[in-house]
Amino acid sequence: MPVNLHGKSYLKLLDFTPAEIRYLLDLSRNFKDLKRSGTVHKYLEGKNIVLLFEKTSTRTRCAFEVAGADLGLGVTYLDPAGSQMGKKESIPDTARVLGRMYDGIEYRGFSQELVEELSKYAGVPVWNGLTDRFHPTQMLADLLTAEEKFGRLKGLNFTYFGDARNNMGNSLMVACAKMGLNFTACAPKALFPDAELVQTCQKIAADNDCTVTLTEDVYRGAAGADIIYTDIWVSMGEPDAVWEARIKLLKPYQVNRTVMDLAGSGAIFMHCLPSFHDTRTTVGARRGRGCRSDR
Ligand code: NVA
Repeated sequence: MPVNLHGKSYLKLLDFTPAEIRYLLDLSRNFKDLKRSGTVHKYLEGKNIVLLFEKTSTRTRCAFEVAGADLGLGVTYLDPAGSQMGKKESIPDTARVLGRMYDGIEYRGFSQELVEELSKYAGVPVWNGLTDRFHPTQMLADLLTAEEKFGRLKGLNFTYFGDARNNMGNSLMVACAKMGLNFTACAPKALFPDAELVQTCQKIAADNDCTVTLTEDVYRGAAGADIIYTDIWVSMGEPDAVWEARIKLLKPYQVNRTVMDLAGSGAIFMHCLPSFHDTRTTVGARRGRGCRSDR
C-alpha cells in the first residue's frame, strides 16, 4: 500500500498504520542526515505554521522551531498566555481563524479532545505536541533513537517504569504495539493504563507479532529488557497535592542501578524529560528529598 499522509493531522499513533509510522521514521532519518551533513534544503519555504502552547515546553517547542527554520517555514509561537483559545474564543473559532492563516498548527495542552476538536475545524493539519493522553511527536523521536541504538525495532523488549496511565505510558504502549516491540508497563496497579486502551493495544500487538504486558513486579519488568524507560512522576498540570502520595507509590519503581543491572549490560535507559536530578532547580529544591527519587 502506498503511503499518502498529505493533509493528515498527527493527533495520536492509533490513527496511523505501521507502514505510515515506518514512512515517518524513514523521513525523519533522512532529515536528520541532511542536518548532520549541513545540507540546506528549505523544502517548505513559503509556508507558515503556528505553535500553540497551553503548557510550557523546552524540547518540543525548540524541536518545532528549529525544524521549522530548517524547512524554511515561517513559525509563530503563542505561549500559554498568548491566545484567546477557550477563554474569549471557542475552539472551533480559533481553529478556523488559524487555519486560514497557517498551513499547519501544533498544539500542546490539556485534553486530547481539544486537539481533536482543533483538527476537526482547522482545515489544515494539526500536530499534537502533548496532551494529557498522548505525546505522539515524542514517539517518533524515541522509536528513531531505539532503532539507531539497536539497528531494529521488531522483537525488542521495552519496559516502561512509572505512571503508566499518563501520556507517555499510553503513547509508548501504542508505539510498541504498532512497531513490533514487546511492551511491558511496570507500575503499581493504581497506575496501570486504561483497560480499554490496553485491550486495543493487545489486539494491535497480536497483529504485529509482539506483546503488551502489565506487571507490578519490578524483577519481571526489568529482566531481559532492552530498553528501560521512565517519565517524570508528576506530570504537567497535575495538582501539587498529588506529589507526596505519588512519590510513595512510585518509589519502588524508581529506575536505578539495581533495575539496570537486572536488565543486563546491553540495555539502554531512556527518559522523555524533564527530570529532577538534584535540588538545583526551583521545584527540585522545594520538593527536596522526594524529587531526587524522580530520576
Ligand atoms: N508526562 C509528562 C511528559 C513530559 C514530556 C508530562 O505530561 O508532563
